[in-house]
Amino acid sequence: MSQLSTPTLLILGASSDVGRAIAHQYARHGYQIILAGRHPEEMEKSANDLRIRYRTEATAVYFDALDTSSHKDFYQSLESRPEGVVSVIGLLGDQDKGFEDFDHAEQIVTTNFTALISILNLVANDFKQRGSGFIIGVSSVAGERGRQSNFLYGSAKAGFTAYLSGLRNALYTHNIHVMTVNPGFIHTSMTEGMDLPGALTLEPEDVARDIYRAQQKKRNICYTGWYWRWIMLIIRTIPESVFKRLSL
Ligand SMILES: NC(=O)c1ccc[n+]([C@@H]2O[C@H](COP(=O)([O-])OP(=O)(O)OC[C@H]3O[C@@H](n4cnc5c(N)ncnc54)[C@H](OP(=O)(O)O)[C@@H]3O)[C@@H](O)[C@H]2O)c1
Repeated sequence: MSQLSTPTLLILGASSDVGRAIAHQYARHGYQIILAGRHPEEMEKSANDLRIRYRTEATAVYFDALDTSSHKDFYQSLESRPEGVVSVIGLLGDQDKGFEDFDHAEQIVTTNFTALISILNLVANDFKQRGSGFIIGVSSVAGERGRQSNFLYGSAKAGFTAYLSGLRNALYTHNIHVMTVNPGFIHTSMTEGMDLPGALTLEPEDVARDIYRAQQKKRNICYTGWYWRWIMLIIRTIPESVFKRLSL
């Protein structure tokens, strides 16, 4: 494949376990990779690894989702305009702390939702002008029903999911594909120390593979693992009068 025709993927939140796995998945399939996140040194090492393993271009750039005033410059200064963008950014945060301290609640909501609108709107408008591109947003099954254990995170993810649905609708006639990813449990630094159900918990590499396959097939919504589609269907149908009594 010639250098000119090599597509580029921009990964926002590239230092995450899932972001790293996505980088490998797409590099393996011939993409150039731009790793964006808050740990340039660590990402530079990952970029070097990608360059050696897959003989592809890979660069690392600083990106802070919360610094929304920098987003325009960040996007315009990219060496090559990406054909695809995936946002892996997320913050589980501390539900109990956020319930007491609005600053923390706001940080959770901004990181998972409003800050992503800032950068993805810029990407979407660029793709619209170019008449092509794909956007992948990693949301969560937690956005499908509020639970006492994580409803700040969950409500922000619900907002992000609705945003992605609207964006998909708005960009459909512009030849731009928008995919929402709803993971269940994944073994990552976000869930470190949690007692996760083994049979329902994936590795980042499984999630990255599901995402790549679903994006190639132009799926609108990708549950990873697939069984979460059915689990969430059941969970959504539980009446609120029953759901509020459950300790979830
Ligand atoms: N793990 C799970 O079970 C699970 C389940 C459902 C959905 N998800 C979603 O999957 C995605 C990946 O999460 P993960 O499990 O791989 O956890 P993770 O390693 O904690 O990833 C979260 C990523 O978001 C980045 N991030 C947070 N705030 C940022 C900011 N202001 N600017 C730029 N980057 C920022 C983090 O970077 P820093 O290192 O700089 O903080 C990190 O790279 C997230 O969207 C998460 O919500 C995960």
